[in-house]
Amino acid sequence: MQNGSQTEQPIPVTAELQYDGRTVTLPRIDPSMGDHGIGISRLRSETGMVSYDPGLANTASCRSAITYLDGENGVLMHHGYAIEDLAQHCVFLEVALLLITGTLPNREERSQFTRLMNKNSMLHEGMIQFFDNYPENSHPMAILSAMVVSLSSFYPEIAGPISEVPLDETVTNLLSKMRTIAAFSYKKSIGEPFVYPSHKLRYCENFLNMMFSSPVADYQIDPVVETTLNRFLILHADHEQNASTTVVRGVGSSGTNLYASIAAGISSLWGTLHGGANQAVIEMLEDIRNSGKRVKQIVEQAKDRSNPFRLMGFGHRVYKTYDPRARIAKQSCRELLDHLGIGRDPLLDIAVELEEAALADDYFLEKKLYPNVDFYTGITYRAMGIPTNMFTVMFALGRLPGWIAHWLEMRNDPEQRIVRPRQIYVGQKPRAFVPVQERG
Ligand code: CMC
Repeated sequence: MQNGSQTEQPIPVTAELQYDGRTVTLPRIDPSMGDHGIGISRLRSETGMVSYDPGLANTASCRSAITYLDGENGVLMHHGYAIEDLAQHCVFLEVALLLITGTLPNREERSQFTRLMNKNSMLHEGMIQFFDNYPENSHPMAILSAMVVSLSSFYPEIAGPISEVPLDETVTNLLSKMRTIAAFSYKKSIGEPFVYPSHKLRYCENFLNMMFSSPVADYQIDPVVETTLNRFLILHADHEQNASTTVVRGVGSSGTNLYASIAAGISSLWGTLHGGANQAVIEMLEDIRNSGKRVKQIVEQAKDRSNPFRLMGFGHRVYKTYDPRARIAKQSCRELLDHLGIGRDPLLDIAVELEEAALADDYFLEKKLYPNVDFYTGITYRAMGIPTNMFTVMFALGRLPGWIAHWLEMRNDPEQRIVRPRQIYVGQKPRAFVPVQERG
């Protein structure tokens, strides 16, 4: 069977698997766009075998209508809208609603959602004291994950049928409160008092104000910073079955509540191969600047198979071309630096040089490794004054509506079952038990 998007040939309705003299017929699963699937749910019962696919790189774990991704051509769409249009014309909350409800809100729906978000923006005072018990050098991702799962002790689970949920209190609670938790974890880390959310401010304004104003000094919200933040959160809003979304769906598949499922997704995102890459990129660029290493040296190091080092912010499981989000992030990064009058940021210069060196190198070209979304976001967050250890929290804030949308879709999907894969056992065969006194 071939990829339907790349051939004019009719695609067979079934695939056949021949094994040990038997032929098993496997049904074709049709998409609205993109890769067709082969249904293997009867594979084991009919052959006694299971499929083996480390990292699930060739496995579709669900049917989903939320996000379309064409990695060969660098296309990303949410409910049919191109990421370029959404990033250019929307604010983050519109895209959040699009992901969760399937449609872009009209003015009235947008205002209603903003009212709900404001209503739910404060944290229960009982949760505030939790922050005091974290050591000052705690990573904000640890705090975020723990605080989000704690929400399930303070707030109700989704009420009523999941199919009617979209603007349910649990969903708006999460969307609104996670922003407050993120800002509070930063204030805690710098030993400043918390700044509470305000009903007078929009979503991104509110976040910036909670992060950067203090009882002794107001923070002047720069509209270009606000626009850039909206855009970056939109770039992160969803990316179909990535590692953390798969975790959210997997955890939720056992019937776990939304808060706990999202907390697990936050933990998955933290890793440097996933959302943690944005922090790792800046650390890599700073290391190059501070050590005086040449960019060429770094590229050679990344190519050396005996060295575990990888070029952070490069490569992607699905994109085999330039990540469309990275293109938008790079452009926005330049615009913001110009607007802020930062002029030349040495880290941006190193990043651009690194990108040029890698994209001129056969190793990266042959393996189709291009900058991904994390390559330019950190430099931009840094220019906004957001500290390095908060970068992955920013990614989590952006990804939240995507996680929620997938969790809801999973719960409403009659085909979904508890996630419970098989394995190929390679351990010991049965052996005789040895009592402790006889063990050597
Ligand atoms: N630097 C050097 N070599 C690389 C890199 C890199 N950044 N990425 C992949 N390769 C090589 C890899 O060594 C392998 O080589 P070989 O075929 O000789 O064994 C080949 O390219 C294929 O890589 P892979 O690890 O099999 O690919 P994957 O799909 O399993 O992993 C990835 C994808 C994103 C984890 C990987 O490209 C990577 O580690 N990138 C750096 C970390 C990063 O930037 N992560 C953010 C991803 S995008 C945002 C997000 O999802 O959060």
